[in-house]
Amino acid sequence: MVDYNNPNLLVTPNKVRSGKIEWRSPSNIALIKYWGKYGQQLPCNPSISFTLDAAYTETTLEYGPKMTDKPGVSVDFLFHNQHNKPFADKIERYLTSLLPIYPFLSQIELTIFSSNSFPHSAGIASSAAAMSALALCLCSLEDELFGTLSDDKQFDQKASYLARLGSGSACRSIYSKAAIWGETQEAQESSDLYAVGWGHHLHPIFATFHDDILIISKEEKGVSSTAGHKLMDDNPYSETRYMTVQGRMKQMLAALKAGDIELFGDILEKEAYSLHGLMMLSNPPYLLLRPGTVSVIEKVHEFRRTNKIPLYFTLDAGPNVHLLYPDLHKEVVQAFIKNELLRYCSEGSYIPDKVGNGPKQL
Ligand code: PMV
Repeated sequence: MVDYNNPNLLVTPNKVRSGKIEWRSPSNIALIKYWGKYGQQLPCNPSISFTLDAAYTETTLEYGPKMTDKPGVSVDFLFHNQHNKPFADKIERYLTSLLPIYPFLSQIELTIFSSNSFPHSAGIASSAAAMSALALCLCSLEDELFGTLSDDKQFDQKASYLARLGSGSACRSIYSKAAIWGETQEAQESSDLYAVGWGHHLHPIFATFHDDILIISKEEKGVSSTAGHKLMDDNPYSETRYMTVQGRMKQMLAALKAGDIELFGDILEKEAYSLHGLMMLSNPPYLLLRPGTVSVIEKVHEFRRTNKIPLYFTLDAGPNVHLLYPDLHKEVVQAFIKNELLRYCSEGSYIPDKVGNGPKQL
Protein backbone atom coordinates (compact mmCIF):
# COMPACT_ATOMS: atom_id res chain seq x y z
CA MET A 1 0.00 0.00 0.00
CA VAL A 2 1.48 3.32 -1.07
CA ASP A 3 1.81 5.85 1.75
CA TYR A 4 3.23 9.19 0.70
CA ASN A 5 2.98 10.85 4.12
CA ASN A 6 6.50 11.96 4.96
CA PRO A 7 7.31 14.22 7.93
CA ASN A 8 10.94 14.35 6.77
CA LEU A 9 10.30 16.43 3.66
CA LEU A 10 11.31 19.68 5.35
CA VAL A 11 13.70 22.35 4.09
CA THR A 12 16.26 24.37 6.02
CA PRO A 13 14.43 27.72 5.92
CA ASN A 14 17.42 30.06 5.35
CA LYS A 15 18.81 27.82 2.60
CA VAL A 16 15.77 27.81 0.28
CA ARG A 17 16.58 29.03 -3.22
CA SER A 18 14.02 30.69 -5.46
CA GLY A 19 12.92 28.97 -8.63
CA LYS A 20 10.25 28.40 -11.21
CA ILE A 21 8.60 25.25 -12.58
CA GLU A 22 6.21 25.04 -15.52
CA TRP A 23 4.00 22.22 -16.81
CA ARG A 24 1.38 21.90 -19.51
CA SER A 25 -1.17 19.17 -18.82
CA PRO A 26 -4.18 18.11 -20.87
CA SER A 27 -7.76 17.25 -20.05
CA ASN A 28 -9.02 13.70 -20.60
CA ILE A 29 -12.26 12.10 -21.70
CA ALA A 30 -13.52 9.03 -19.87
CA LEU A 31 -14.63 6.11 -22.04
CA ILE A 32 -15.72 4.12 -18.98
CA LYS A 33 -16.87 6.66 -16.42
CA TYR A 34 -15.86 7.20 -12.84
CA TRP A 35 -19.10 8.04 -11.05
CA GLY A 36 -19.36 7.53 -7.31
CA LYS A 37 -16.54 7.75 -4.81
CA TYR A 38 -15.64 6.78 -1.26
CA GLY A 39 -13.01 7.63 1.37
CA GLN A 40 -10.42 10.15 0.30
CA GLN A 41 -11.47 10.59 -3.33
CA LEU A 42 -11.31 6.87 -4.18
CA PRO A 43 -13.38 5.55 -7.10
CA CYS A 44 -16.24 3.06 -6.66
CA ASN A 45 -15.38 1.53 -10.03
CA PRO A 46 -12.48 1.44 -12.52
CA SER A 47 -12.44 3.93 -15.38
CA ILE A 48 -10.44 4.41 -18.57
CA SER A 49 -9.88 7.60 -20.54
CA PHE A 50 -8.23 8.98 -23.62
CA THR A 51 -5.76 11.75 -22.82
CA LEU A 52 -6.56 14.83 -24.90
CA ASP A 53 -4.28 17.26 -26.67
CA ALA A 54 -5.74 20.70 -27.46
CA ALA A 55 -7.63 21.24 -24.19
CA TYR A 56 -4.91 21.85 -21.60
CA THR A 57 -3.82 23.96 -18.64
CA GLU A 58 -0.42 25.61 -18.32
CA THR A 59 0.72 26.16 -14.76
CA THR A 60 3.76 28.05 -13.54
CA LEU A 61 4.81 27.61 -9.95
CA GLU A 62 7.24 30.14 -8.51
CA TYR A 63 8.74 29.35 -5.14
CA GLY A 64 11.08 31.04 -2.72
CA PRO A 65 11.89 31.58 0.95
CA LYS A 66 8.95 32.48 3.15
CA MET A 67 9.02 36.13 4.18
CA THR A 68 6.28 35.97 6.81
CA ASP A 69 5.89 33.92 9.97
CA LYS A 70 2.26 33.17 9.14
CA PRO A 71 1.71 29.47 9.85
CA GLY A 72 0.48 27.13 7.12
CA VAL A 73 0.57 27.44 3.36
CA SER A 74 1.39 30.82 1.83
CA VAL A 75 0.22 30.99 -1.78
CA ASP A 76 -0.79 33.62 -4.27
CA PHE A 77 -2.86 32.28 -7.19
CA LEU A 78 -3.53 33.96 -10.53
CA PHE A 79 -5.81 32.61 -13.24
CA HIS A 80 -5.10 34.11 -16.68
CA ASN A 81 -2.95 36.66 -14.82
CA GLN A 82 -5.83 37.82 -12.64
CA HIS A 83 -6.51 37.19 -9.00
CA ASN A 84 -9.45 34.86 -8.59
CA LYS A 85 -10.65 34.39 -5.02
CA PRO A 86 -12.76 31.19 -5.40
CA PHE A 87 -9.95 29.43 -7.30
CA ALA A 88 -7.30 30.74 -4.88
CA ASP A 89 -9.28 29.43 -1.89
CA LYS A 90 -9.61 26.04 -3.54
CA ILE A 91 -5.87 25.85 -4.25
CA GLU A 92 -5.00 26.90 -0.71
CA ARG A 93 -7.32 24.22 0.72
CA TYR A 94 -5.77 21.64 -1.62
CA LEU A 95 -2.18 22.54 -0.68
CA THR A 96 -3.09 22.54 3.01
CA SER A 97 -4.55 19.04 2.62
CA LEU A 98 -1.18 17.94 1.19
CA LEU A 99 0.85 19.05 4.24
CA PRO A 100 1.22 15.50 5.65
CA ILE A 101 2.78 14.52 2.29
CA TYR A 102 4.65 17.78 1.69
CA PRO A 103 5.27 19.48 5.07
CA PHE A 104 7.74 21.84 3.33
CA LEU A 105 4.79 23.59 1.68
CA SER A 106 4.32 25.54 4.93
CA GLN A 107 7.97 26.64 4.89
CA ILE A 108 8.10 28.36 1.49
CA GLU A 109 6.20 31.00 -0.43
CA LEU A 110 4.40 30.07 -3.64
CA THR A 111 2.97 32.03 -6.53
CA ILE A 112 0.96 30.00 -9.01
CA PHE A 113 -0.06 31.21 -12.48
CA SER A 114 -2.55 29.08 -14.33
CA SER A 115 -4.18 29.45 -17.73
CA ASN A 116 -6.29 27.24 -19.97
CA SER A 117 -6.07 26.77 -23.73
CA PHE A 118 -9.87 27.03 -23.84
CA PRO A 119 -12.17 29.72 -22.43
CA HIS A 120 -13.06 29.03 -18.80
CA SER A 121 -16.69 29.76 -19.54
CA ALA A 122 -16.83 27.12 -22.30
CA GLY A 123 -18.49 24.62 -19.99
CA ILE A 124 -15.47 22.32 -20.26
CA ALA A 125 -14.53 20.50 -17.06
CA SER A 126 -11.11 22.05 -16.61
CA SER A 127 -10.28 20.53 -13.25
CA ALA A 128 -8.57 17.46 -14.76
CA ALA A 129 -6.12 19.63 -16.71
CA ALA A 130 -5.67 22.16 -13.89
CA MET A 131 -5.13 19.72 -11.03
CA SER A 132 -2.82 17.45 -13.03
CA ALA A 133 -0.69 20.44 -14.08
CA LEU A 134 -0.41 21.58 -10.46
CA ALA A 135 0.38 18.07 -9.19
CA LEU A 136 3.17 17.76 -11.79
CA CYS A 137 4.61 21.12 -10.68
CA LEU A 138 4.59 19.91 -7.05
CA CYS A 139 6.41 16.68 -7.94
CA SER A 140 9.03 18.66 -9.88
CA LEU A 141 9.37 20.93 -6.85
CA GLU A 142 9.89 17.92 -4.58
CA ASP A 143 12.56 16.65 -6.94
CA GLU A 144 14.29 20.03 -7.10
CA LEU A 145 14.33 20.48 -3.34
CA PHE A 146 15.10 16.90 -2.28
CA GLY A 147 16.16 14.96 -5.41
CA THR A 148 13.72 12.21 -4.45
CA LEU A 149 11.74 11.74 -7.68
CA SER A 150 14.29 11.08 -10.40
CA ASP A 151 12.63 7.81 -11.46
CA ASP A 152 10.05 8.61 -14.17
CA LYS A 153 7.62 5.88 -13.17
CA GLN A 154 7.66 6.94 -9.54
CA PHE A 155 7.32 10.57 -10.57
CA ASP A 156 4.22 9.85 -12.68
CA GLN A 157 2.67 7.67 -9.99
CA LYS A 158 3.09 10.31 -7.32
CA ALA A 159 1.86 13.09 -9.65
CA SER A 160 -1.20 10.97 -10.44
CA TYR A 161 -1.81 10.32 -6.72
CA LEU A 162 -1.58 14.04 -5.89
CA ALA A 163 -3.75 15.00 -8.88
CA ARG A 164 -6.40 12.51 -7.68
CA LEU A 165 -6.60 14.27 -4.34
CA GLY A 166 -7.36 17.52 -6.20
CA SER A 167 -9.93 16.12 -8.62
CA GLY A 168 -10.46 12.38 -9.13
CA SER A 169 -10.43 12.25 -12.92
CA ALA A 170 -7.29 14.45 -13.01
CA CYS A 171 -5.16 11.45 -12.03
CA ARG A 172 -5.68 9.99 -15.52
CA SER A 173 -4.29 13.07 -17.35
CA ILE A 174 -0.69 12.25 -16.35
CA TYR A 175 -0.26 9.59 -19.03
CA SER A 176 0.16 9.58 -22.78
CA LYS A 177 -2.85 8.50 -24.88
CA ALA A 178 -4.83 6.42 -22.34
CA ALA A 179 -4.98 5.70 -18.63
CA ILE A 180 -6.82 3.40 -16.25
CA TRP A 181 -7.77 4.44 -12.76
CA GLY A 182 -9.28 2.05 -10.23
CA GLU A 183 -8.55 -1.55 -9.45
CA THR A 184 -9.51 -4.00 -12.15
CA GLN A 185 -8.43 -7.55 -12.89
CA GLU A 186 -8.05 -6.44 -16.49
CA ALA A 187 -4.98 -4.28 -15.83
CA GLN A 188 -2.03 -5.34 -13.75
CA GLU A 189 -0.78 -2.67 -11.35
CA SER A 190 -4.10 -0.80 -11.55
CA SER A 191 -4.94 0.97 -8.32
CA ASP A 192 -7.63 3.08 -6.69
CA LEU A 193 -4.89 5.44 -5.46
CA TYR A 194 -3.49 6.56 -8.80
CA ALA A 195 -3.92 5.93 -12.50
CA VAL A 196 -1.64 3.83 -14.67
CA GLY A 197 -0.71 4.47 -18.29
CA TRP A 198 -2.42 2.21 -20.82
CA GLY A 199 -1.58 3.97 -24.11
CA HIS A 200 0.92 1.29 -25.16
CA HIS A 201 -1.93 -1.27 -25.39
CA LEU A 202 -4.04 0.78 -27.82
CA HIS A 203 -4.56 -0.53 -31.33
CA PRO A 204 -3.01 2.08 -33.69
CA ILE A 205 -6.46 3.15 -34.95
CA PHE A 206 -7.24 4.51 -31.47
CA ALA A 207 -3.88 6.21 -30.95
CA THR A 208 -4.88 8.86 -33.50
CA PHE A 209 -8.59 9.05 -32.65
CA HIS A 210 -10.35 12.41 -32.68
CA ASP A 211 -12.52 13.84 -29.93
CA ASP A 212 -14.29 17.00 -31.05
CA ILE A 213 -16.08 18.70 -28.19
CA LEU A 214 -19.34 20.42 -29.07
CA ILE A 215 -20.15 23.20 -26.61
CA ILE A 216 -23.93 22.96 -26.23
CA SER A 217 -24.10 25.27 -23.23
CA LYS A 218 -21.63 27.55 -21.50
CA GLU A 219 -23.75 27.90 -18.40
CA GLU A 220 -22.56 26.73 -15.01
CA LYS A 221 -23.98 23.25 -14.33
CA GLY A 222 -27.00 23.08 -11.99
CA VAL A 223 -25.45 20.18 -10.04
CA SER A 224 -21.67 19.95 -9.63
CA SER A 225 -19.69 16.72 -10.10
CA THR A 226 -18.96 16.70 -6.37
CA ALA A 227 -22.69 16.75 -5.59
CA GLY A 228 -23.32 14.18 -8.34
CA HIS A 229 -20.80 11.70 -6.89
CA LYS A 230 -22.39 12.16 -3.48
CA LEU A 231 -25.85 11.35 -4.83
CA MET A 232 -24.52 7.93 -5.91
CA ASP A 233 -24.29 6.96 -2.21
CA ASP A 234 -28.06 6.64 -1.91
CA ASN A 235 -28.87 5.87 -5.51
CA PRO A 236 -30.84 2.59 -5.53
CA TYR A 237 -29.20 1.69 -8.86
CA SER A 238 -25.60 2.29 -7.83
CA GLU A 239 -24.86 -1.36 -6.91
CA THR A 240 -26.13 -2.53 -10.30
CA ARG A 241 -23.97 0.13 -11.90
CA TYR A 242 -20.83 -1.01 -10.07
CA MET A 243 -21.53 -4.62 -11.06
CA THR A 244 -22.15 -3.97 -14.76
CA VAL A 245 -19.24 -1.60 -15.19
CA GLN A 246 -16.69 -4.40 -14.59
CA GLY A 247 -17.98 -6.28 -17.62
CA ARG A 248 -17.99 -3.11 -19.69
CA MET A 249 -14.41 -2.39 -18.72
CA LYS A 250 -13.39 -5.82 -19.92
CA GLN A 251 -15.18 -5.34 -23.24
CA MET A 252 -13.84 -1.83 -23.71
CA LEU A 253 -10.23 -2.91 -23.14
CA ALA A 254 -10.67 -5.81 -25.55
CA ALA A 255 -12.08 -3.44 -28.18
CA LEU A 256 -9.25 -0.92 -27.67
CA LYS A 257 -6.62 -3.63 -28.05
CA ALA A 258 -8.20 -5.30 -31.07
CA GLY A 259 -9.15 -2.10 -32.92
CA ASP A 260 -12.82 -3.15 -32.76
CA ILE A 261 -14.43 0.24 -33.36
CA GLU A 262 -17.99 -1.08 -33.37
CA LEU A 263 -17.68 -2.66 -29.93
CA PHE A 264 -15.82 0.44 -28.70
CA GLY A 265 -18.64 2.71 -29.89
CA ASP A 266 -21.36 0.49 -28.46
CA ILE A 267 -19.81 0.54 -24.96
CA LEU A 268 -18.86 4.21 -25.23
CA GLU A 269 -22.44 5.31 -25.86
CA LYS A 270 -23.87 2.93 -23.24
CA GLU A 271 -21.54 4.57 -20.71
CA ALA A 272 -22.77 8.04 -21.62
CA TYR A 273 -26.41 6.95 -21.27
CA SER A 274 -25.64 5.19 -17.97
CA LEU A 275 -23.98 8.26 -16.48
CA HIS A 276 -26.93 10.51 -17.29
CA GLY A 277 -29.43 7.76 -16.46
CA LEU A 278 -27.91 7.55 -12.98
CA MET A 279 -28.39 11.30 -12.60
CA MET A 280 -32.04 10.99 -13.57
CA LEU A 281 -32.44 8.14 -11.05
CA SER A 282 -30.82 10.04 -8.17
CA ASN A 283 -32.75 11.39 -5.24
CA PRO A 284 -33.41 14.19 -6.04
CA PRO A 285 -33.27 13.44 -9.76
CA TYR A 286 -31.63 15.90 -12.11
CA LEU A 287 -31.06 16.37 -15.80
CA LEU A 288 -27.97 17.97 -17.33
CA LEU A 289 -28.83 17.21 -20.96
CA ARG A 290 -30.16 20.10 -23.03
CA PRO A 291 -32.38 19.97 -26.11
CA GLY A 292 -29.25 20.59 -28.21
CA THR A 293 -27.54 17.56 -26.65
CA VAL A 294 -30.42 15.31 -27.69
CA SER A 295 -30.58 16.79 -31.20
CA VAL A 296 -26.85 16.19 -31.70
CA ILE A 297 -27.14 12.58 -30.48
CA GLU A 298 -29.99 11.91 -32.91
CA LYS A 299 -28.06 13.49 -35.78
CA VAL A 300 -24.99 11.40 -34.95
CA HIS A 301 -27.04 8.20 -35.03
CA GLU A 302 -28.59 9.16 -38.35
CA PHE A 303 -25.16 10.07 -39.81
CA ARG A 304 -23.70 6.74 -38.71
CA ARG A 305 -26.61 4.76 -40.15
CA THR A 306 -26.65 6.58 -43.47
CA ASN A 307 -22.94 6.94 -44.12
CA LYS A 308 -21.68 3.77 -42.42
CA ILE A 309 -18.98 5.89 -40.78
CA PRO A 310 -18.00 5.03 -37.19
CA LEU A 311 -18.83 8.29 -35.47
CA TYR A 312 -19.76 7.87 -31.79
CA PHE A 313 -20.56 10.20 -28.93
CA THR A 314 -19.91 10.39 -25.23
CA LEU A 315 -20.86 12.86 -22.51
CA ASP A 316 -19.23 14.18 -19.37
CA ALA A 317 -21.25 15.32 -16.39
CA GLY A 318 -22.75 18.14 -18.47
CA PRO A 319 -24.62 18.90 -21.70
CA ASN A 320 -21.62 19.09 -24.05
CA VAL A 321 -21.10 16.29 -26.55
CA HIS A 322 -17.78 14.62 -27.34
CA LEU A 323 -17.62 13.13 -30.82
CA LEU A 324 -15.13 10.32 -31.28
CA TYR A 325 -14.00 8.98 -34.65
CA PRO A 326 -10.96 7.61 -36.50
CA ASP A 327 -8.56 10.00 -38.20
CA LEU A 328 -9.26 8.53 -41.62
CA HIS A 329 -12.79 9.98 -41.56
CA LYS A 330 -11.83 13.46 -40.37
CA GLU A 331 -12.77 15.40 -43.54
CA VAL A 332 -16.27 14.04 -43.84
CA VAL A 333 -16.98 14.18 -40.09
CA GLN A 334 -15.68 17.73 -39.75
CA ALA A 335 -17.82 18.84 -42.69
CA PHE A 336 -20.82 17.17 -41.01
CA ILE A 337 -20.07 18.98 -37.74
CA LYS A 338 -19.80 22.35 -39.47
CA ASN A 339 -22.84 21.89 -41.69
CA GLU A 340 -25.22 20.07 -39.38
CA LEU A 341 -24.16 20.29 -35.75
CA LEU A 342 -22.75 23.74 -35.02
CA ARG A 343 -26.29 25.14 -35.08
CA TYR A 344 -26.90 23.32 -31.78
CA CYS A 345 -23.73 24.72 -30.19
CA SER A 346 -23.60 27.78 -28.00
CA GLU A 347 -22.37 30.58 -30.30
CA GLY A 348 -21.32 27.83 -32.72
CA SER A 349 -18.41 26.85 -30.51
CA TYR A 350 -16.59 23.57 -30.56
CA ILE A 351 -13.07 22.39 -29.74
CA PRO A 352 -11.52 20.00 -32.24
CA ASP A 353 -9.35 17.71 -30.15
CA LYS A 354 -7.67 14.32 -30.40
CA VAL A 355 -5.80 11.71 -28.42
CA GLY A 356 -2.62 13.32 -27.13
CA ASN A 357 0.80 12.49 -25.77
CA GLY A 358 0.27 13.66 -22.22
CA PRO A 359 1.80 16.41 -20.09
CA LYS A 360 4.94 18.31 -20.97
CA GLN A 361 7.36 20.22 -18.78
CA LEU A 362 7.93 23.66 -20.29
O1 PMV B 1 -13.15 14.18 -11.40
P1 PMV B 1 -14.53 14.65 -11.14
O2 PMV B 1 -14.86 14.59 -9.69
O3 PMV B 1 -14.81 15.98 -11.78
O4 PMV B 1 -15.55 13.60 -11.81
C1 PMV B 1 -15.57 13.38 -13.19
C2 PMV B 1 -16.66 12.48 -13.55
C3 PMV B 1 -16.89 12.27 -15.04
O5 PMV B 1 -16.29 13.27 -15.81
C4 PMV B 1 -18.38 12.33 -15.30
C5 PMV B 1 -16.41 10.91 -15.49
C6 PMV B 1 -14.93 10.71 -15.56
O6 PMV B 1 -14.52 9.57 -15.31
O7 PMV B 1 -14.20 11.63 -15.92
